[in-house]
Amino acid sequence: MTNSFRTLDDVDVKGKRVLVRVDLNVPMDGGKVTDATRLERIAPTITEMSDKGGKVILLAHFGRPKGRDDKNSLKPVAAALADVIKKPVAFADDCVGDVAAKAVGAMKDGDILCLENTRFHSAEEKNDPAFVAELAKLGDIWVNDAFSAAHRAHASTEGLGHKLPAYAGRTMQAELDALGKALDAPTKPVIAIVGGAKVSSKIDLLENLVTKVDALVIGGGMANTFLHAQGVKVGKSLCEKDLAATALRIIDKAEASGCAIILPVDAIVAFHFAANTPSRAYGLDAIPDEGMILDVGPQSIERINAAIDDAATLVWNGPVGAFEMTPFDRGTVAGAKHAAARTKAKKLISVAGGGDTVAALNHAGVADDFSYISTAGGAFLEWMEGKPLPGVEVLKK
Ligand code: 3PG
Ligand code: MG
Repeated sequence: MTNSFRTLDDVDVKGKRVLVRVDLNVPMDGGKVTDATRLERIAPTITEMSDKGGKVILLAHFGRPKGRDDKNSLKPVAAALADVIKKPVAFADDCVGDVAAKAVGAMKDGDILCLENTRFHSAEEKNDPAFVAELAKLGDIWVNDAFSAAHRAHASTEGLGHKLPAYAGRTMQAELDALGKALDAPTKPVIAIVGGAKVSSKIDLLENLVTKVDALVIGGGMANTFLHAQGVKVGKSLCEKDLAATALRIIDKAEASGCAIILPVDAIVAFHFAANTPSRAYGLDAIPDEGMILDVGPQSIERINAAIDDAATLVWNGPVGAFEMTPFDRGTVAGAKHAAARTKAKKLISVAGGGDTVAALNHAGVADDFSYISTAGGAFLEWMEGKPLPGVEVLKK
């Protein structure tokens, strides 16, 4: 898949001013980066270009500011990035205008400069051509290494690709390669596990997946909506009753496409939404009226693990229970551990993505054992929905 993109193999960056779109939207607390995964992911691209004598100019957003505001400055993130890549990263207080031009003008080959939050200018999100032109003045080529922001058609994520010669960075390349192997040209059979609270946020995703995968496990709160649609009494469980018809349509579409839908066959039920509140497993015909389904039950776990055994490729998005509260993390942890073991045994290609999903796999202690974990949230979902991502489309030759 990646051979339809220009990559860093296709350009000599020595002496060139390289505008590199990266994703520096990392979680922070009290001015400190609490999870540096995204910084670690972009390190190879930055280091390679710097070592080859390129002038590496980083463009990124942070948060969703409305205009300039100190809370959303990239300055502390640039400092954290310098620690990760073990090279100095200079900083300029604006991404366009004199401040940026001066900072770029002062760069020597191999230098790294981070420009301030692109979203301090509203023109960024509007993909305003005049703003794109301002940014383009600072560089000779554009490298996009921000898959996780590729669902945005903004000036720095998409617009620049029409103005300057465009290349995929190493992380973008790895991401497209891994995702391509998972859904576009996968080793069959393919299983998807989709969880999370709500069907409403994942209708497009489910509709697309049932046409592409051989088996679809539905877990989490969204499974309750499917169970309800099939006549199961789900008590006080989270359930979008108004989406019953949608759920049945997805089930019909799956059947027509030869995709097996795997729903829970039993459930862990509690009477309060709280960690360690008393709970036990119930059959689907016996969910108490006052009860709340908070995880899949032991028989469901066995079914999911058996389905994973039948698969050669797994795509995972969303926890299958309320994993942030013990003991309702059991189903998610069991499935994650099983998938990780199959991957280690070279029986499975496993790809996962989405904010909660990565947190759940980290919680299960298996994130390193999956074949590929995407750091993308919204972009991963849109990819699973089969939608073209503007920041990827613009890279196509
Ligand atoms: C993310 O954190 O998911 C990306 O950086 C995109 O951020 P956004 O949702 O604010 O566009
Ligand atoms: Mg987001």
